[in-house]
Amino acid sequence: MAQPLFEKVAFIGLGLIGSSLARVMLAENLSRHIVASTRSEKTLQDALELGLIEQGFNNPVDAVQGADLVVLALPVQATEKVLRLIQPHLADNVILTDVGSTKGSVVAAAKAVFGEHLPAGFVPGHPIAGAEHTGVHAGKVDLFANHKVILTPLPSSAPWAVNKLIQMWESAKAEVICMDVEKHDEVLAYTSHLPHLMAFNLVEQLANREDNLDIFRYAAGGFRDFSRIAASDPQMWHDIFLANKTALLKAVDGFESQLAIIRQLIEQEDSHALMGLLGHAQAARQHFNHMLAKKPFMENNNVTQQFTILPGAKTFQGKFTVPGDKSVSHRSIMFGAIAEGTTHVTGFLEGEDALATLQAFRDMGVSIEGPKNGEVTIYGVGMQGLKAPAGPIYMGNSGTSMRLLAGMLSAQQFDSVMTGDASLTKRPMERIAKPLREMGAQIQTTGERGTPPVSITGAQALKGIHYDLPMASAQVKSGILLAGLWAEGETSVTEPEPTRDHTERMLRAFGYEVKTEGNRISLQGGGKLVGTDIQVPSDISSAAFFMVGAAITENSDVTLEAVGINPTRTGVIEILKQMGADLSVENERIAGGEPIADIRIRGSRTLKGIHVPEDQVPLAIDEFPALFIAAACAEGQTVLTGAAELRVKESDRIQVMADGLKTMGIDCTPTDDGIIIQGKGKAGDWSAIFTGGEIESHHDHRIAMSFSMAGLRTSGEIKIVGTETVATSFPTFTELAGVAGLNIQVTE
Ligand code: S3P
Repeated sequence: MAQPLFEKVAFIGLGLIGSSLARVMLAENLSRHIVASTRSEKTLQDALELGLIEQGFNNPVDAVQGADLVVLALPVQATEKVLRLIQPHLADNVILTDVGSTKGSVVAAAKAVFGEHLPAGFVPGHPIAGAEHTGVHAGKVDLFANHKVILTPLPSSAPWAVNKLIQMWESAKAEVICMDVEKHDEVLAYTSHLPHLMAFNLVEQLANREDNLDIFRYAAGGFRDFSRIAASDPQMWHDIFLANKTALLKAVDGFESQLAIIRQLIEQEDSHALMGLLGHAQAARQHFNHMLAKKPFMENNNVTQQFTILPGAKTFQGKFTVPGDKSVSHRSIMFGAIAEGTTHVTGFLEGEDALATLQAFRDMGVSIEGPKNGEVTIYGVGMQGLKAPAGPIYMGNSGTSMRLLAGMLSAQQFDSVMTGDASLTKRPMERIAKPLREMGAQIQTTGERGTPPVSITGAQALKGIHYDLPMASAQVKSGILLAGLWAEGETSVTEPEPTRDHTERMLRAFGYEVKTEGNRISLQGGGKLVGTDIQVPSDISSAAFFMVGAAITENSDVTLEAVGINPTRTGVIEILKQMGADLSVENERIAGGEPIADIRIRGSRTLKGIHVPEDQVPLAIDEFPALFIAAACAEGQTVLTGAAELRVKESDRIQVMADGLKTMGIDCTPTDDGIIIQGKGKAGDWSAIFTGGEIESHHDHRIAMSFSMAGLRTSGEIKIVGTETVATSFPTFTELAGVAGLNIQVTE
């Protein structure tokens, strides 16, 4: 068995936290000897009976003799007194830590005892875990599992001491975070101490009313939820409030001024602003749950979800409406925000990417209602109305948000920083930063290789430029044109191949003149946008997975309703048709300025391999992962060239698809700008093509969804890891795919 981490640990105090840590020490064999001192004889007796400690003492001096770890697990107020007692008896290289919920007061107590030269082994700590009950019996070995433990190493703390404590807490399955003392106390003041203070105070307010019995009797869930924490130990909270007085008072002041704001909005019946405030708060709450909670995992490249697809799908059928178009959803928020007047959006994609854009504009002071069932109302603030966000803007997985916003933010009066998740952090941002700099923007890509974070210094006067786009990118085109809205004179771009033109179309819908002459697009700066209604069509990029699924499955019959068929997006239809798919575009109509149609695909004939025409590449740029699955099922070879852009999408889609295809028994060769795939299909033969296997999606939603469709023609089980990003563009994917007939299971 491995050497224990410690020779002898002495707990001073053995309540819930101390006794839980003692349980971990026993279970994980972290210390050869465990002793404790507490004031209560009964606690010591109980701890001995429970087998938690070898020896118990009433005097802490006796407990710390020869201990190489001393844990102060007592109320923070007692710290100074205990330290004074034990100081002369501490071993030379002792590690001294505590578990108190304020840290400034603990450090002050230590300085009062040790003077400015604090022991190298002194590292304050704070496990953020608790339970309804207290005392040695309430302790649990898993109290800290999946909880955070904050260590606040001081300049005097030695790395060996910090590292050992990290090891100790990680053995308790806690997530250890290091931060400085002031930060800890400030964070805790806002996230824990202020809410407790508010809960106690609200209950107190109601308890003082004459009709308090009625009020409590009729109190509904809201009161119960809000006041739950007011049932905590008053002594403990008294101590914490006083121990963290400075940071807590600052938080209380902040609360008072925020309360005054909402009070005034209600008094003045300022409905828009009130909705804005409530909507912003609600969104921020959801944002924490959905995105920020996931962030540490994604940043560490950890995987939080996987799909398992079982062989044996019999059919792939049905009529489906896939969610709203991602590109159009982003732009509806961006343009609605800077327009004058109100914009109503329907069919909005409630996926994480578009929600990141929505959150960004809320953070910049725009009142936005929804989304609710795809409806969003944006109260535009006009061209000069955006406000500085309080902190960095988190763009999640979304390259579109970051590149388009780079253009808009470069023209604002305030500074800004944009960050993103593990995938976005690897994506090239110089392609947009460079032309914006030519326009006079002060923009930096502060990542290692021209990658995010992107940092922008505001208040620059931009001037219009002409830019020859070196790559076919609608995001770069759009970012430049958007900066051009605020720039002096004309801004124009020429694209090497036509790319999606949603920016141009939607700017026109908002009343802004945009000229398209061949491949040259231009606009004059200094105009304004007027709020309008935007109907977002279903996303052809999401529909593409179902189109491919149907095209490779015998007797399938799938109709995708009201799909956007903007000609700059229909490459997938053209390519599938050239491969021989039985595909018809029906019921073509115009909705909200964009052409839409129902697309019906039947699995009636085996696809054949083709050389994909290069002019179709930008028009199907997001659909290639799905098309590669179709190519693997086709008869003969499919060759793709001129698609180097695929290497800089949410993942390197050429390499990641090639790796996955090879895992599943497909012969393919990635090239610099494309791929050659040897299709395994045979005319009239609908048997399995793929062997199954484990696929790494590299946080790329489209890789995950494409390999899911391979499950319609697999002989073995397919596991796809890292599928959490599917929620960025197609939150209902697994549900709809399951209804159509795919055997797909999700494991969180
Ligand atoms: C998009 C443009 C494309 C596309 C992306 C969305 C847009 O990116 O891949 O999913 O909304 O403008 P590029 O501009 O990098 O080609």
